[in-house]
Amino acid sequence: MSRGGEHEIVVIEGDGIGQEVIPAAVTILQAIDDVSLSFSKKQAGDATRDDTGVALPETTYEAAADADATLFGAAGETAADVILPLREAVGSFVNIRPVRAYPGVDALHPQTDLVFLRENTEGVYSGHETRLSEDLSTLTRVITTSASERLAEYACSYVTERSIDEFHIVHKANVMQETDGRFRDAVSRVATSSNVETTEVLMDAFATRICLNPTQFDVIVCPNLAGDVLSDLAAGLVGGLGLLPSANIGKTNALFEPVHGTAPDIAGDGIANPSASILSAGMLLEHLGETDAATNVQTAVESVLNSGPRTPDLGGDADTEGVVSAVLEQLQ
Ligand code: NAI
Ligand code: MG
Repeated sequence: MSRGGEHEIVVIEGDGIGQEVIPAAVTILQAIDDVSLSFSKKQAGDATRDDTGVALPETTYEAAADADATLFGAAGETAADVILPLREAVGSFVNIRPVRAYPGVDALHPQTDLVFLRENTEGVYSGHETRLSEDLSTLTRVITTSASERLAEYACSYVTERSIDEFHIVHKANVMQETDGRFRDAVSRVATSSNVETTEVLMDAFATRICLNPTQFDVIVCPNLAGDVLSDLAAGLVGGLGLLPSANIGKTNALFEPVHGTAPDIAGDGIANPSASILSAGMLLEHLGETDAATNVQTAVESVLNSGPRTPDLGGDADTEGVVSAVLEQLQ
């Protein structure tokens, strides 16, 4: 908890480029003069499992549960054993994934500016998988009215605070009538009672529509797997995964992470794009109520994306450090 106005941040780098982009984001946070932050580094991921036998030590789980906010990189093959319990540790019920095209960055759709509000606790990620025989495995898809309503309540406040009067509900209730039917009905009901308009789109049709014209969407509310997949798809419209931050918001605290994984193909080369992690740190500042600092970080990243230097995923030849130095310069 906060002590004397100081925000306590737990930092979990994880594996692969998590060990490059999270230190980059911490460097940026440390450079902000008028916000008092303390950092506590914790372990999780493949390397932690190899060292200790568990991918997510209890001390890391407890630290994330107690902190004001957590900054997490990515875990490799242990991702499900790390990020799912960490989201639970912070009581997260929504995963916010803004997708923006930035001036200066080559994008398939340069006008894209939308946000996914993804259900973050259930659906097919609730862990109910069973091997029934040599030939047959099953997965139980969990959808509750309570989690759907909680997401919808958040979505209604989110749009109202931003003077937007509607959101899209993406689902597949024509096929998954019981589960997605329940999701759609709960979200619609909450929106109606909050005077927020909603438009339904079936998730397969949505995949086509967002590729053809993402500007028709603003706020998208969807179940867990749909949000995971469709936000990665949307990353492709704006220049790639190196640009997408995310926030896992809970009742009392929250966890911030880039959308991307450990990027084993470039890990260790020092060329990972730190933008997604720095933008995630910006979302962390906003969550802590440090609005000016959040805006400054966002603006600094935007400015560097526009002017360069840029990492190779964006067609540049800069390394991670070069981008961090440029963002620091913009902040000062
Ligand atoms: P990935 O997101 O790690 O990489 C996909 C592609 O995007 C790669 O070509 C990579 O080089 C590129 N990329 C991603 N972030 C980048 C950045 N910041 N800068 C430049 N290029 C970037 O997804 P992939 O390859 O499917 O997964 C790799 C590992 O990450 C797997 O073990 C997976 O389980 C894990 N993963 C973990 C997540 C988490 O912990 N939340 C989320 C997604 C994947
Ligand atoms: Mg994903």
